Amino acid sequence: MIAAVPLAAVEPPLLVEDLSFAWADGRLALDGCGLRVPGPGLWMLVGSNGSGKSTLLRLIAGLISPRSGHIRTTAKPALVFQNPDHQLLLPSVGSDLQLGMPADLPAGEVRGRVARALEQVGLAGLERRPIHTLSGGQKQRLAIAGALAGEAGLLLLDEPTALLDPDSQRDVLALIGRLCHRRENPLTALWITHRLEELEGCDGAARMEGGRIGPWQSGSQLRRSLNPLPAGRAER
Ligand SMILES: Nc1ncnc2c1ncn2[C@@H]1O[C@H](COP(=O)(O)OP(=O)(O)OP(=O)(O)O)[C@@H](O)[C@H]1O
Ligand SMILES: [Mg+2]
Repeated sequence: MIAAVPLAAVEPPLLVEDLSFAWADGRLALDGCGLRVPGPGLWMLVGSNGSGKSTLLRLIAGLISPRSGHIRTTAKPALVFQNPDHQLLLPSVGSDLQLGMPADLPAGEVRGRVARALEQVGLAGLERRPIHTLSGGQKQRLAIAGALAGEAGLLLLDEPTALLDPDSQRDVLALIGRLCHRRENPLTALWITHRLEELEGCDGAARMEGGRIGPWQSGSQLRRSLNPLPAGRAER
């Protein structure tokens, strides 16, 4: 008989404990914040403006340091911002992807990684394309390819579809869903959104308010609680 592994023994991809952070003016942006992402998958956070969501992602990515508390990750984190123009730095698709790779990688390995990353996000063969010729959705997929080329396993997505048209929004959401549910080496994604319809596509969703995060719920449950239907109307 195979012994069951107790859940507590499995290291979660992301564990945040009692995290506090204050900006220079002394105001607390996070206050005893805790979050346990139980496994690979697509996990979403919603919350009002200024509730601390972007600050939390910056802390997890290591861009800023907490005043107190702990962050444990089992995979390399990578941030994906709302506006891909803020993170795509070099003029061509291929050169931009190389930026996140170790400088001492052999040229053949670099080319292979670039090609694989582009293929995974549906941009195969576009190595030589100037970035300014890409659509908004393609740029956002390129930003995700950058995380993959850098071998990130924990994607931190800060309203990644806020500037996209509905088709590109669906494409990016579906892409992250596929990467988080693939059989081999599934990724973990923490996705911040104000677009409540996106909650339907996640594995779990939680609400952040006042620098703290509530319990995981199903996306549709959280969506209903935030956006209750007018009295007397049944959901279709
Ligand atoms: N660079 C900064 N310097 C000082 N205060 C900041 C800075 N960045 C954010 N804050 C403050 O920290 C708090 C949390 O901001 P944060 O950007 O994390 O919120 P958010 O939940 O991402 O909001 P939104 O939904 O509008 O993106 C807010 O009170 C904000 O004004
Ligand atoms: Mg924000």
